[in-house]
Amino acid sequence: MSATITGLVGSSVEVLQEKIRTKTARVGVVGLGYVGLPLAVEFGKAGFAVTGIDLHEAKVNQVNAGVSYIPDVPTEEVHSLAAANKLAATTDFSIIKDLDTINICVPTPLRKTKDPDMSYIVSACQEIAKYFHPGMLVFLESTTYPGTTEEVVLPMLEQNGLKVGEDFFLCFSPERVDPGNASFQTRNIPKVVGGHTPACTEMGKLFYSQALETVVPVSSTQVAEMVKLLENTFRMINIGLANEMAIMCGRMDINVWEVIDAASTKPFGFMPFYPGPGLGGHCIPIDPFYLSWKTKQAGIEARFIELAGYINGQMPHFVVDKIQNALNDVGKPVKGSHIHICGVAYKRDIDDVRESPALDIIHLLQKRGANVTFSDPYIPKIRVEEDVMHSSDMASNLAVCDCAVIITDHKSTDYAQVVSTAPLVVDTRNALKNNNSANIVRL
Ligand SMILES: NC(=O)c1ccc[n+]([C@@H]2O[C@H](COP(=O)([O-])OP(=O)(O)OC[C@H]3O[C@@H](n4cnc5c(N)ncnc54)[C@H](O)[C@@H]3O)[C@@H](O)[C@H]2O)c1
Repeated sequence: MSATITGLVGSSVEVLQEKIRTKTARVGVVGLGYVGLPLAVEFGKAGFAVTGIDLHEAKVNQVNAGVSYIPDVPTEEVHSLAAANKLAATTDFSIIKDLDTINICVPTPLRKTKDPDMSYIVSACQEIAKYFHPGMLVFLESTTYPGTTEEVVLPMLEQNGLKVGEDFFLCFSPERVDPGNASFQTRNIPKVVGGHTPACTEMGKLFYSQALETVVPVSSTQVAEMVKLLENTFRMINIGLANEMAIMCGRMDINVWEVIDAASTKPFGFMPFYPGPGLGGHCIPIDPFYLSWKTKQAGIEARFIELAGYINGQMPHFVVDKIQNALNDVGKPVKGSHIHICGVAYKRDIDDVRESPALDIIHLLQKRGANVTFSDPYIPKIRVEEDVMHSSDMASNLAVCDCAVIITDHKSTDYAQVVSTAPLVVDTRNALKNNNSANIVRL
């Protein structure tokens, strides 16, 4: 038997360590979305038998049929792992009786009031608690406010009289996956992990190091929770600054993109962030508000977050004003104009439309009386308020529209065609950087 975890002697520790080292530990992933499926696949590829648990029956069926629904995960990988009995999925939480580890990767959205919505974590933990048993290792990976693991998850797992750090192990490990990023994926993004006790951290480190390239242990679950919020708040605030720069440059008729490119030549002390039509996705527009909600309880106003949130939230309005002004300049009122939106995903080359600014921009344009169409190679349909809109052919819309608006700069879009066909193009992403055509209006 190999050495026990520092300071702890006990059969459940040794047994779990051994199972992890020999890859006979049975791994469970709760929530098989953009985060959970890639993680499940990595552990399957490392040699573990992995079971995904999700409420969404269609996803479960697809995994069991060897089909991937996440663009970053090749179907061939899901197929070969399913065929080798290294990956399966279920909607039935009772499988937890047979599992040794669980990674919780469920959504953490905001309520309408911008308060954290913990209902997914709570409901997943309630189910886990029913089948929880000694010797388990549990990770929360969902982005959340500092204190969640200790205040919300721990009491639910300890309710059966089990003791953390002795009978079971509990960690927080923030997920840092960046959908659509070809260079950095689950395996080679360093994994931060903080346990409730030092023994938990060591067990967590041992687990992740079986499948991921770099593990970064930190001293507590709270530190690990805060790491993720610092990373995403850093991005959100710097994007807010870039957006404010764009608004200021717009007033002064300066090309903000050229300014940022030139500033980026400074070899130290500057990191470029870019303006855009507004924040999107399940992380950057949401996560900082988990932090500001928590700090408010401690009597601290998170002023940078609130301010950047305000500026970023103005960007769809700024873009719509820009479109209206551009149309006015060519003698067309926005009311009754046909505006074609190129790309509605929240960022390039992904199929995710959650929180996408395109939805706000389309709604605002419709409120001003425009006739709006869209095309997106990744998104067949969207819901704007009560209406469902379908992606339509880009080329034929460009030929008849009054204005094309580039909201998402997918690589596969033919930008030369956009500029040569549409009479007017508003570019919110600098997709037309090297094109000086007179019909282009830039953010
Ligand atoms: N998407 C990203 O780029 C990204 C990056 C880093 C961190 N995160 C964080 O990771 C977490 C998950 O995000 P995601 O993008 O994978 O979400 P997602 O919506 O793609 O996937 C979540 C999955 O959890 C399932 N689910 C919901 N409640 C459940 C329950 N009670 N039991 C079992 N399954 C349940 C859903 O059906 C869904 O398949 C969030 O906290 C998010 O902030 C996301």
